[in-house]
Amino acid sequence: MISATRRPTLAVVGATGAVGTVMLRILSQRADVWGEIRLVASPRSAGRKLVVRGEEVEVLALSEEVFDGVDVAMFDVPDEVAAHWAPVAAARGVVVVDNSGAFRMDPDVPLVVPEVNGHKVRNRPRGIVANPNCTTLSMIVALGALHAEYGLRELVVSSYQAVSGAGRAGVETLRQQIALVAGTELGTHPGDVRRAVGDNTGPFPEPVALNVVPWAGSLREDGWSSEEMKVRDESRKILGLPRLPVAVTCVRVPVVTTHSLTVHARFQDEVTVDGAREIIATAPGVVLFDNPAAGEFPTPADVVGTDPTWVGRVRRALDDPTALELFVCGDNLRKGAALNTAQIAELLAAELSHGEGR
Ligand SMILES: NC(=O)c1ccc[n+]([C@@H]2O[C@H](COP(=O)([O-])OP(=O)(O)OC[C@H]3O[C@@H](n4cnc5c(N)ncnc54)[C@H](OP(=O)(O)O)[C@@H]3O)[C@@H](O)[C@H]2O)c1
Repeated sequence: MISATRRPTLAVVGATGAVGTVMLRILSQRADVWGEIRLVASPRSAGRKLVVRGEEVEVLALSEEVFDGVDVAMFDVPDEVAAHWAPVAAARGVVVVDNSGAFRMDPDVPLVVPEVNGHKVRNRPRGIVANPNCTTLSMIVALGALHAEYGLRELVVSSYQAVSGAGRAGVETLRQQIALVAGTELGTHPGDVRRAVGDNTGPFPEPVALNVVPWAGSLREDGWSSEEMKVRDESRKILGLPRLPVAVTCVRVPVVTTHSLTVHARFQDEVTVDGAREIIATAPGVVLFDNPAAGEFPTPADVVGTDPTWVGRVRRALDDPTALELFVCGDNLRKGAALNTAQIAELLAAELSHGEGR
């Protein structure tokens, strides 16, 4: 329990990364519920100064001691780092909000999207709350609202994923590749883009500039990618539909930040476009932007840097009156990562300030 006069202490672990950088911006923009904010990264970054809430704060190297006196820690680090260090922090009494994939499917770790299942944050036997993957998060707030009204029965999804989903390395790779192909006539003969880019494909298996790559993550059984399995498993867990049929194809596109998805969602009963539009337009955290006659539909170029899930191209399926087709865009570093983590942490801060334990 925190005394009425003390605001909770927050640690941001991975403060120097792609998600961490956006996290510091979000912490500077949102209503400030925190006392001290401690910034943590690898020993490579120790001593660097980063700005949060308008003040320079020195980055500390990750160690057991950095968690002394911390109430809530956000982890924005690779899976293996979170897998080791989140339980270390939790054992020292810290409530961890983890952005990695290390704990999301652990039955003793809630997987939380505040607009959809925020109440789950209170039941955390391991002292860890997981933040979903960015691709799932980019659509799930809108889907959760439609599911609450219509009862979801099946999901068919294709993603168009930004390179920042692969962290700083993904962004640097696209920028370097764009420089290599700029002003050329590449993209007219087989293999010409690949030759121009050479070995410089970074975290991607193929050039991403002037290209689309039907792959994200690592190889899983029967040709599925890890990213595709995450979208299926995490959507099921968040929506509380453990047997929901989900078909996903994840594709990387040359966009810096903001994931897009086409969604075919089938429901229990017949749906109407007007009804769906109303649900989308009134759901918290969702914006309906859907007027093709006026050229209005969401695109990453307009959505990047914003908080909500943007939904356009709302149609009833041509051959199935129980299904809807949607095009959804969400900033993968804001709602897709840092913002959702910040929202979860704020729920925890409110709970801890009201004197309820871990
Ligand atoms: N990018 C997205 O859209 C997205 C969305 C949702 C979730 N996530 C997840 O969020 C996590 C961070 O992703 P990111 O894209 O921000 O990655 P990133 O840009 O590569 O940043 C990684 C961060 O982790 C720190 N780090 C690495 N190894 C460390 C170690 N041994 N000890 C302490 N700190 C260490 C780095 O610190 P240094 O700078 O000191 O190396 C850096 O701050 C990942 O688990 C990722 O899967 C990412």
